[in-house]
Amino acid sequence: MSFKKDFLWAASTSAYQVEGAYNEDGKGLSVQDVKKVPEGTPDFKVCSDHYHRYKEDVKLFSELGLKAYRFSIAWSRILPNGFGKINQKGLDFYNNLIDELLKYGIEPIVTMYHFDLPYELEKKGGWENPEIVSYFEEYAKILFEHFGDKVKYWLTINEQNVMIIHSEQIDGGKSNKMVYQKNHHMLLAQAKAMILCHKMLPKAKIGPALNVGVVYPKSCNPKDVLASQYCNAIRNWLYLDATCFGVYNNMALKYIHDKNYVLDIKKGDMEILKAAKPDFIAFNYYNSFTVEDPDAKSDKLKDLDSVLLEKGYYKSYVNEYLKFTEFKWQVDPLGFYITLNEIYGRYRLPLIVTENGLGAYDKLEDGKVHDDYRIDYLREHIEYMKKAVDDGVDVFGYCTWSAIDLISTHQGFDKRYGFIYVNRDNKDIKDLSRIKKDSFYWYNKVIQSNGEDM
Ligand code: BG6
Repeated sequence: MSFKKDFLWAASTSAYQVEGAYNEDGKGLSVQDVKKVPEGTPDFKVCSDHYHRYKEDVKLFSELGLKAYRFSIAWSRILPNGFGKINQKGLDFYNNLIDELLKYGIEPIVTMYHFDLPYELEKKGGWENPEIVSYFEEYAKILFEHFGDKVKYWLTINEQNVMIIHSEQIDGGKSNKMVYQKNHHMLLAQAKAMILCHKMLPKAKIGPALNVGVVYPKSCNPKDVLASQYCNAIRNWLYLDATCFGVYNNMALKYIHDKNYVLDIKKGDMEILKAAKPDFIAFNYYNSFTVEDPDAKSDKLKDLDSVLLEKGYYKSYVNEYLKFTEFKWQVDPLGFYITLNEIYGRYRLPLIVTENGLGAYDKLEDGKVHDDYRIDYLREHIEYMKKAVDDGVDVFGYCTWSAIDLISTHQGFDKRYGFIYVNRDNKDIKDLSRIKKDSFYWYNKVIQSNGEDM
């Protein structure tokens, strides 16, 4: 078995984390441009300055050997107000970027929306406002019209589940009674975009891009097992069941009702969800999760960067079998294998991994970055992905996070993920020059050997 000949070895970025040029060439503001960033971390105004240096970056991606590059389009660069007047310079930027990628034989994989809602739409109620469904459809139509002849792979919404569960970390939003109504609008918007894509671009492929990691029970105590079932349903399956089957997961629905969240499903909505069929499932994987009976007394939750806690349903548990990253994320390569099998078993659609990687405090020493810890992390994950492929799981691509250093969602620039070091840090923008890390040469070898030489 092993990886198919045309396996998409790739790497990812997102517009608001890498581009900079936040207000240039007609771009409107996004929620990321106005959010209050955590103390000590930089804003998103300059980032890695990819907007001005994309040619240099794409050349480096080609030297890296990438078969594909996943990036997102900033909605507010195309439509500064979120709808209405199109910004030609925004279209030009992405057209140029795509042409540059194709020049080097790199397949573009486009995320339509990655956490950066146009601020003008947020002011109109954001995802709570039902009109957003048609705004997103209008935006999707523009993307398909302008880039559809060159882009074959489309991803709708990045990590919708994380935006719903950890909105305060991602876009400065707060979870409120309307959060599952927001989610419902996102599901409808995504469904409409998938239907439209199939109509306008019959040869293109489109799918969701969620963050999926299996949730383990702390023990075989049925209370822990039930906690993990609920957490899996609420964190993972709610989104994939709605996207792939057009139904609401029953356990998640019970939770939504019990917690008195607003969920107004209009006549015809479920038919729209059912009519939309993804061609594949894209998912981001960083770690598995472990939960226990929510009434249990044990408590080490401060050891984790991000906690899953729902009174009456589940509570995070620190898994003693797993290591930690410097940023309090647990590392679980075997969990990657389990997650690949679980998703494939449930939905039987081709899979592409759209993010996987290690955030670390890299050190630049004598012009070099020896990031062997990143190589180890990626190697272990790729080995388990290979095992899943050997077992018959249909995986057609793998994108690391990230192609190049960029700003983390809530932990600044000093938390680095890239194969390419960008010479700046949290406090000082410096010269933003690009330096290949050791992992750059290693990933190149992996790609050249189609995953044989690791
Ligand atoms: C995913 C996001 O959640 O994880 C990315 O899609 C993000 O935008 C990545 O950067 C890593 O998370 P963080 O919080 O370390 O930036």
